[in-house]
Amino acid sequence: MTAAVIDGKAFAATLRARVGDLARAFEDKAGRKAGLAVVLVGEDPASQVYVRSKGKSTLEAGMASFEHKLPADTAEADLLAVVEKLNADPAVDGILVQLPLPRHMDEQKVIAAIAPDKDVDGFHVINAGRLAVGQPGFVPCTPLGCLMLLKDKLGSLSGLDAVVIGRSNIVGKPMAQLLLAESCTVTIAHSRTKDLPEVVRRADIVVAAVGRPEMVKADWIKPGATVIDVGINRVPAAEEGKTRLVGDVDYAGVSQVAGAITPVPGGVGPMTIAVLLRNTLVAAHRNAGLELSADAI
Ligand code: GUN
Repeated sequence: MTAAVIDGKAFAATLRARVGDLARAFEDKAGRKAGLAVVLVGEDPASQVYVRSKGKSTLEAGMASFEHKLPADTAEADLLAVVEKLNADPAVDGILVQLPLPRHMDEQKVIAAIAPDKDVDGFHVINAGRLAVGQPGFVPCTPLGCLMLLKDKLGSLSGLDAVVIGRSNIVGKPMAQLLLAESCTVTIAHSRTKDLPEVVRRADIVVAAVGRPEMVKADWIKPGATVIDVGINRVPAAEEGKTRLVGDVDYAGVSQVAGAITPVPGGVGPMTIAVLLRNTLVAAHRNAGLELSADAI
């Protein structure tokens, strides 16, 4: 049997279109566009690509995009001053400081400076705390995108065994919190986990977010399980000098055992920006004191 392919690219396109409609309705009601500010420090090529792509998608969704590009040798105090200005700017609903930051900066300190109600990345400790205790806040985009794909595929997740591989603050931990809130029995596995294949074999849902190319193998997977692959790893291709993208899951093998699986590329990746726009729209409604029903988005 071959697993159903979970088409994150199509799901993300639909979500972006819905966000676009609601962003135009927001503009009619609020008399201004929802606004997202993205701050990039330095010239990391991958970060430049992401930031350009976020700016373009923001405009396509009918929102205002504010880009702040600072040189790599910017003093931390000057970055904090930019964040403070954006916190106070009523045209800015969401603030994203692109990570990683240059080594001379303290990322936690910079994230802590972002107003929690503009923290559309969901990285601030206040938002991590809100997620942990079940209060409304902002949830990191990648795990929220994974949850949307899972609910779209499976409906209720209640009572299912979920194994999250990876314990980062950005993906693994919030993913586990989201699955727990859906009444899954959640295990967080990581590099020190004993007998990882045995742990993963119990799972109805596997979320792999470790950054190790094709680590999760077919014989780790319970037949019929749903597999979400968050990994984006560049590895050498068969052709000399070329590279290709692979996930954390051995797709060729695992798709023979799983019930459903996200491909790389075209699975989780496209969801991240779509959810960022969704979070910005939610921020705009909250900041403007306007209602946005939970099922609208
Ligand atoms: N760098 C890579 N992904 C992300 C993200 O989702 N948010 C931020 N702020 N930086 C990133």
